[in-house]
Amino acid sequence: MKKVYIETYGCQMNVADTEVVFSILADAGYARTEEIADADVIMANTCSIRDNAEQRIWGRIEHFRSFRKKRPGLVVGILGCMAERLKDALLDSGKVDLVAGPDAYRSLPALLSAVSEGHPQINVELSREETYGDIKPVRLDRGGVSAFISIMRGCNNVCSYCVVPYTRGAERSRDWKSIVREACDCFAAGYREVTLLGQNVDSYLFEDVDFADLLEKVAEVSPLLRVRFSTSHPKDISDKLIDTMARHSNICRHIHLPVQSGNDRILEKMRRRYNREWYLERVRRIRSVMPDCGITTDAIVGFCSETEDEFRDTLSIFEEVGYDAAFMFFYSERPGTLAARNYPDDVPQEVKTRRLEELISLQNRLSLESNRRDIGREYEVLVEGPSKKGGLRGGDGDQREGDLRGGTVQLCGRTSSNKMCVWEDSAEGPGAQGSGAHRPGDYVRVRVTDCTQATLICELA
Ligand code: 5AD
Ligand code: SF4
Repeated sequence: MKKVYIETYGCQMNVADTEVVFSILADAGYARTEEIADADVIMANTCSIRDNAEQRIWGRIEHFRSFRKKRPGLVVGILGCMAERLKDALLDSGKVDLVAGPDAYRSLPALLSAVSEGHPQINVELSREETYGDIKPVRLDRGGVSAFISIMRGCNNVCSYCVVPYTRGAERSRDWKSIVREACDCFAAGYREVTLLGQNVDSYLFEDVDFADLLEKVAEVSPLLRVRFSTSHPKDISDKLIDTMARHSNICRHIHLPVQSGNDRILEKMRRRYNREWYLERVRRIRSVMPDCGITTDAIVGFCSETEDEFRDTLSIFEEVGYDAAFMFFYSERPGTLAARNYPDDVPQEVKTRRLEELISLQNRLSLESNRRDIGREYEVLVEGPSKKGGLRGGDGDQREGDLRGGTVQLCGRTSSNKMCVWEDSAEGPGAQGSGAHRPGDYVRVRVTDCTQATLICELA
């Protein structure tokens, strides 16, 4: 049996895709290995979202090739967004043997057998129908509690900075019945949380089932199954969705709502199709229906022609919303996008870097303030497992033990609003098994006693 090793980069969607790839390859007689040195086939499932994501992959390709010395027949392959963006240029580099885009994974067994006969192979055809809906993913080991379910592929939004519509093609939704079936399978296999994934989940539509309907169907699989989703587009997030979330306590109180910028001229130039006021109204609506809902975001600083005052609008919208967490980036021009074709990338790198640092330090304060508001409150947390050693480190230098300590173990898990909690679990009480009472997949009530910017420090309630 040939052994395959895959490294996954980029978003959660790529993790879900790697699980599909392993399933297709298992059916074709390939085994999975986590030891790169044992592999007959080494692949990277790649990301193109920013230039540094791609640069990192080029470094990995060199590393993969170094195993050739010991294994002459070794196949090196590139999957995912970078495969789709660079296409033949990857094969022409002479560094890889196989290139397969996000819609070409069913052809991997055929491509691999052709490669083994000495011919480099490429398939980067995009599809209008492929959703891999019938494929049962081989779950990568992420603790056995939380699983990703891909509900749609591609994107039709064409934000001017974004490469995704070009790398993942047109938007298409997967049959809701296969999604509900997959959620049932996950629950039966012991998973207690599923995250429904799509580039823009709010535009999910299969027959007459929209995203709110789908969410409800998945929530009804079991009250013990938590349901999360990502990512929402502010222009499409509907009142129906917000009301559906509010009706089901197992739909997690968390919305990732990428704002990108707080300035109307920049939002227009980004082709986001909402303005600052629209965004703030959506946030008010979410909070009026679900006051306890976590709201997180993505933002880009230094987009083409962004002035200092326009950047200040991003700072002020962060302050106004008071995000619980955020992913922040400086603009990276992606060849072929609307912005790359139409606007010069004219904010100097040192200005981008300084703006990014300023935004990150603001968000660090907001995250800490958000966590401090939780001190004294109680939450139901889904146990994920032992916290990483020093899991309490969050910028304050605290490095308490995460290991066994006289009958207690430090466990971690998330609140419904997606905040990470750690607590000392005691060996006493029902279900105690020597090293703490609770197991991954259990629900436990905790009280927040302290916090860092990244973690709520709790005790059993
Ligand atoms: N440059 C910088 N950040 C980007 N993102 C998307 N495209 C770019 C780009 N060209 C960010 C957005 C998006 C997140 C996944 O990545 O904030 O929400
Ligand atoms: Fe990266 Fe976007 Fe592709 Fe995900 S969809 S792998 S974030 S480029």
